[in-house]
Amino acid sequence: MKIAILGATKGMGRAVARRLVERGDELFLLGRDPEDLVRSARDLETRAGRASGSVGTATCDLERPEGFAAALAAAEAGLGGLNAVVVTAGLFATQDQLEADPELARRLLTVDFANTIVFCEDARRRLLARGGGTLCVFSSVAGERGRKPVVLYGAAKAGLSRYLEGLDHKFRGQGLRTICVKPGFVRTGMTAGLPTPPFACEPDAVAVRVVRAIDRGSPVVYAPGIWGLIMLVIRLLPRFVMRKIGF
Ligand SMILES: NC(=O)c1ccc[n+]([C@@H]2O[C@H](COP(=O)([O-])OP(=O)(O)OC[C@H]3O[C@@H](n4cnc5c(N)ncnc54)[C@H](OP(=O)(O)O)[C@@H]3O)[C@@H](O)[C@H]2O)c1
Repeated sequence: MKIAILGATKGMGRAVARRLVERGDELFLLGRDPEDLVRSARDLETRAGRASGSVGTATCDLERPEGFAAALAAAEAGLGGLNAVVVTAGLFATQDQLEADPELARRLLTVDFANTIVFCEDARRRLLARGGGTLCVFSSVAGERGRKPVVLYGAAKAGLSRYLEGLDHKFRGQGLRTICVKPGFVRTGMTAGLPTPPFACEPDAVAVRVVRAIDRGSPVVYAPGIWGLIMLVIRLLPRFVMRKIGF
């Protein structure tokens, strides 16, 4: 497959990119730091035994939507086609940090909700123009219920999950397979320094589930899988219980 990926310089995006390139997919990396992108591309080429320059890169910052079209056009041109777009890029801050800093809250809501969707809309149009493909986007279990520790981040991810669900309902019949990834707590730079809850996992374990979901076209994937069961229970809890517990 010819795959553009936004967020492959770190964490789960890096793990997904490594898995895809090692099994033979062609990748094009999008991200905000040109040097990081080139370093990541060379790492992927070495892992897959490919020629230097075979993994292309272009800058794309989720805070600069005016650059989305050019970045995706560069990916299409570099790959000579486009079968899938993967979006792992995202911003996190704790609820305390966001309550204390309205500008940070505005940025996070813009990046994780509005601008991610604007990026996906451009990717959707390009994939549909080619007869279909796969759009795989990282949301979070944080979006499943209104929860005290993630009021703002969770709201952004909830909106993103709903968008992805609607997209899947509307366009699957036209060949666009939309995949919403909902990780639990994963040990990456994003969670460094946070207390580790039960069922925490490593990015590689998430990547295995995500690549399988891309192959199968599963519309929703929890990672690790146990979070599917946990969230089933959480979704059923009455509001007065959610108000009492710290979860
Ligand atoms: N870690 C968790 O426990 C967890 C749980 C649930 C959901 N998630 C979600 O899963 C996704 C991946 O998380 P992760 O833990 O792998 O994160 P991570 O290690 O912090 O990596 C985040 C990636 O997003 C990129 N990024 C950040 N802001 C960007 C921007 N404005 N424009 C373009 N790229 C940007 C970063 O690029 P740079 O290299 O330039 O910084 C990096 O490649 C995120 O959407 C996150 O919200 C994470």
